[in-house]
Amino acid sequence: MANAKSPVETLTEEEAAAELAFLAAEIARHDELYHGQDAPEISDADYDALKRRNEEIEARFPALVRDDSPSRRVGSAPLATFAPITHARPMLSLDNTFSDEDVRDFVASVYRFLGRLPDDSIAFTAEPKIDGLSMSIRYENGRLVTAATRGDGTTGENVTANVLTIAEIPNRLPAGVPAVVEVRGEVYMAKSDFLALNEKMAAEGRQTYVNPRNTAAGSLRQLDAAVTASRKLRFFAYAWGEMSAMPADTQYGMIEVLKSWGFPVNPMTQRLFRVDDIINHYREIGLARPDLDYDIDGVVYKVDELALQERLGFRSRSPRWATAHKFPAEQAFTTVERIDIQVGRTGALTPVARLTPVTVGGVVVTNATLHNADYIEGIGNSGERIREEDHDIRVGDTVIVQRAGDVIPQVLDVLMEKRPAEAHRYEFPKTCPVCGSHAVRERHEKTGRLDSVTRCTGGFVCRAQAVEHLKHFVSRNAFDIEGLGAKQVDFFFEAEDPSLTIRTAPDIFTLEKRQASSLTKLENIDGFGKVSVRKLYDAINARRSIALNRFIYALGIRHVGETNAKLLARAYGTYEAFATAMKEAEGLSGEAWNDLNNIEGIGEVVARAIVEFYKEPRNLDVLGRLLEEVTPEAAEAVVVSSSPVAGKTVVFTGSLEKMTRDEAKAMAERLGAKVAGSVSKKTDLVVAGPGAGSKLDKAKEFDVEVIDEDGWFELIKG
Ligand code: IVH
Repeated sequence: MANAKSPVETLTEEEAAAELAFLAAEIARHDELYHGQDAPEISDADYDALKRRNEEIEARFPALVRDDSPSRRVGSAPLATFAPITHARPMLSLDNTFSDEDVRDFVASVYRFLGRLPDDSIAFTAEPKIDGLSMSIRYENGRLVTAATRGDGTTGENVTANVLTIAEIPNRLPAGVPAVVEVRGEVYMAKSDFLALNEKMAAEGRQTYVNPRNTAAGSLRQLDAAVTASRKLRFFAYAWGEMSAMPADTQYGMIEVLKSWGFPVNPMTQRLFRVDDIINHYREIGLARPDLDYDIDGVVYKVDELALQERLGFRSRSPRWATAHKFPAEQAFTTVERIDIQVGRTGALTPVARLTPVTVGGVVVTNATLHNADYIEGIGNSGERIREEDHDIRVGDTVIVQRAGDVIPQVLDVLMEKRPAEAHRYEFPKTCPVCGSHAVRERHEKTGRLDSVTRCTGGFVCRAQAVEHLKHFVSRNAFDIEGLGAKQVDFFFEAEDPSLTIRTAPDIFTLEKRQASSLTKLENIDGFGKVSVRKLYDAINARRSIALNRFIYALGIRHVGETNAKLLARAYGTYEAFATAMKEAEGLSGEAWNDLNNIEGIGEVVARAIVEFYKEPRNLDVLGRLLEEVTPEAAEAVVVSSSPVAGKTVVFTGSLEKMTRDEAKAMAERLGAKVAGSVSKKTDLVVAGPGAGSKLDKAKEFDVEVIDEDGWFELIKG
């Protein structure tokens, strides 16, 4: 193939054809990295250069334009589209632990929650944490009916056709299995298969893959199941979702059952009783790790007895009965070539080290976050030293970088003996590099300490903030508008023609109308086409009705991430109720303010941020226009409707003897009740143990029903 740098005029037809083939594959790969995996390998400028080169060659050799040419592809985002599947039971993630001490804490917390004494014996299972993709596979009457990726935990993608091609996953289960069986586990690619695939790719002069995990993900998210079939994917079963009947009553027993049904299970799974044995097994798995034919990134511990798992229940995203003990991160040396500043959605100026590319644990690292000005200096978030004095990070420094799992790589330390004589202290900008507004470090109201974050004060004036806001708004866990990725948002934001610009969220929903009466047609613009434009409008229109928690999350209110958005949606039920309450809470006092603060999990900083958001006229203006286009659905009542305490506000007081306080709270929440810390007019029920004091008096004052622990168990029995 001709050197990619040779001028288009000098290319022979043969060279041009070869290069077009290369560019089609290469651009498709970058599209997938960017849109499908959120892991771009090249800058936007380099990506554009590839597209331009492709177009220039096509302009000279129109006969060579390929069917799969990037210039023909719609919206530049050839996203595989899979139908969504809502999981019968959510697919949760795991909490991480990093040290032996963390593990001891985890085990102790299980004992504490269950009110067990240390010399009681609780069994745990310990098994490798496979670095692949989790999958939920549903069988009805013994036949595989659907397979879904984890997605956001609630809804995943229907990849049934692809999973049917994985030889290690049975399509039928033996006779006598329960009518509904959902098997969960990890799809992965063996290291040996990955290396063989890469050798083949290299031999064919094609781009090689980065690591087995991403390759497995890419292989699975192929619309053409034949491609999945050609890649050898494998599977380990380790969990389950909905089951119409439980064939065992322990984790270990369930794994044995899954094995007997024909699923591969990990041979290193063990049942252990003592923390020391658990930690020992972790070390053994760590020692075996390099010789395994698959990547693992830690060891998962689970409480063995399912009845205890049930009692322990879940926090918002992860079970209390399990944790992942991660292996230490991998490290490497490299040099800092440059320090860039990125401006985020909330105006935070984040310094990023551009590094000489280096491989850390099998992945090429070129960037590392430097977090903030203090971090560069060697000072941590609480003002503590995190590196020796003088070990500030400078351009030209040789540094140790660390990568742990999916976390953004970090710069840990500087090798002082390698510091070039001319390297000088990094000066953190005093103005926003995008809009030029002052950049300030706020002072914490209470502690008086300087905030670690330097923020652009430009607000809506700052293009970077506005663009990041939009990207957040359309992102996967917010409005999730297909065909409107980061690249397209940049394009619409910069577009000058009024029928094309999108500067605020409501503009997204007026685009089609504005386009209808305009002569500048989107479909004639590079990177778009008739089909992709239609698809884009359809994707936008499909979101005119949206779950309340997604809507709230999409607003990009500071401190309101997915978890808090869900809490708010659940607490207020409808958008109107939420918005009205936020306006009523304006003075940071009164009933609405108290209610907001009483939501379990919403602290004062978050409450304040939400109320402040609703005070800003500009936000209200955008919201007003947005609500003309979009309807947030009322939150689904997550309450167990049959539960007699569903929707009630309960206060536990006094000393409880039959359950720990944590357990009581978790139990009530599982049954759909809200648990409050203090008694008010809104309290429905007080559960009082011996020694209850002022809360009991309050309950009498407000005429709230009071029961004891036995009464509680009686009540929830129904
Ligand atoms: S148990 C409710 N066991 O790790 C807990 N997860 O960080 C269900 N994973 O999403 C998960 N190996 O994709 C479990 N042996 C194992 C695992 C494992 C890998 C993945 C899984 C999960 C993620 C959580």
